[in-house]
Amino acid sequence: MQTLTVGLSERSYPIHIGSGLLANAELLVAHLPTKRAAIVSNTTVAPLYLKRLQDTLQAIGVESVPIILPDGEVYKTADTLNLIYDALLIHRCERSTPLIALGGGVIGDMTGYAAATYLRGVPFIQIPTTLLSQVDSSVGGKTGINHPLGKNMIGAFYQPRVVLADISTLNTLSDKELSAGLAEVIKYGLIRDLPFLEWLEQNMDKLLARDTDALQYAVTRSCQNKAEVVALDERESGERALLNLGHTFGHAIESGMGYGVWLHGEGVAAGTVMAADLSQRMGWISEQDVARIRTLFQRAGLPVAGPALGIEIYLHLMGMDKKVEGGKMRFVLLKTIGHAVICADVPEDLLRQTLKACIKYD
Ligand code: NAD
Ligand code: GLY
Repeated sequence: MQTLTVGLSERSYPIHIGSGLLANAELLVAHLPTKRAAIVSNTTVAPLYLKRLQDTLQAIGVESVPIILPDGEVYKTADTLNLIYDALLIHRCERSTPLIALGGGVIGDMTGYAAATYLRGVPFIQIPTTLLSQVDSSVGGKTGINHPLGKNMIGAFYQPRVVLADISTLNTLSDKELSAGLAEVIKYGLIRDLPFLEWLEQNMDKLLARDTDALQYAVTRSCQNKAEVVALDERESGERALLNLGHTFGHAIESGMGYGVWLHGEGVAAGTVMAADLSQRMGWISEQDVARIRTLFQRAGLPVAGPALGIEIYLHLMGMDKKVEGGKMRFVLLKTIGHAVICADVPEDLLRQTLKACIKYD
């Protein structure tokens, strides 16, 4: 097992990464001050891992209230959030009752937002079970739900007390979901960690084969990168925005197609290729660099072109991005591979050229 720390002064917390951690009560005991906890999961993950977690909690004398939600990005809504509040109230959960998220990023984001808002804030624990949630969404305290007009538009920054990434849970993940997680892993290499990108190029086949050592390394290195960025800029006033490489295009794809049709990681993959293409048109990276990026996503089993939504629809949806400032779109682009920057001055004709080149059948 490896343990990292997200350094946020009195709100610092550990990330434990290893195989079989769901059965390790010691890692949780310090964060469970009460004899009761609520576990939020979904209809896919609960049958696989809820009992194991409940047994672990029981061994340290903690009774758990399961709250099982429908599965899917399409349920990351205010209505589903209300189901959490309903259950917490019905079971008379108190301000000291921790909320444990057991699942992927959808469960983690919604549970975190419920924890931030129920009784104005209760303790929150993240137990991510997808690659994407282990390398990204469980770390850093971004929580929230989607709005029909935009992805993750309603939310709060609310840090967990501990993150437990049990990489053995990745064995039950579908190949498609594993690939989606790899999109966010590749992102760290592209924005700030060239040696990691080179490692990924050398080890992609091992990751796809779910080699335990390779997964442990990729999750740990990704979390190291994320923890460093979050410690520098928790509220995204600067560097943290770089973690959104490919997301301006990707979120437009996700909401334009209807939530859940394209996986988040798939949108990020195609969106990152678009961001790379735009970076090349800005005169920063070379065509060979763009091809190198495209090849890595392809090898990871990810899409490298956007769906045919139409250029005007893309432009409209990208205008809803959280990075828009004073009505102006801001993009995360690559100065070089391994070094991302925020750019507010993208000429519209270059953006249109990128969309034209990177959208399928448009
Ligand atoms: P997800 O939560 O929908 O999980 C993907 C699928 O895998 C679901 O069907 C889920 O039930 C299933 N699943 C989960 N664990 C499993 C396991 N161990 N075995 C078998 N099936 C399992 O999707 P995700 O990719 O984990 O997360 C995507 C979400 O995360 C998006 O809503 C995105 O906006 C959000 N996100 C948030 C942040 C953040 O910083 N908060 C960062 C990135 C993404
Ligand atoms: N996934 C982007 C962030 O946490 O800032």
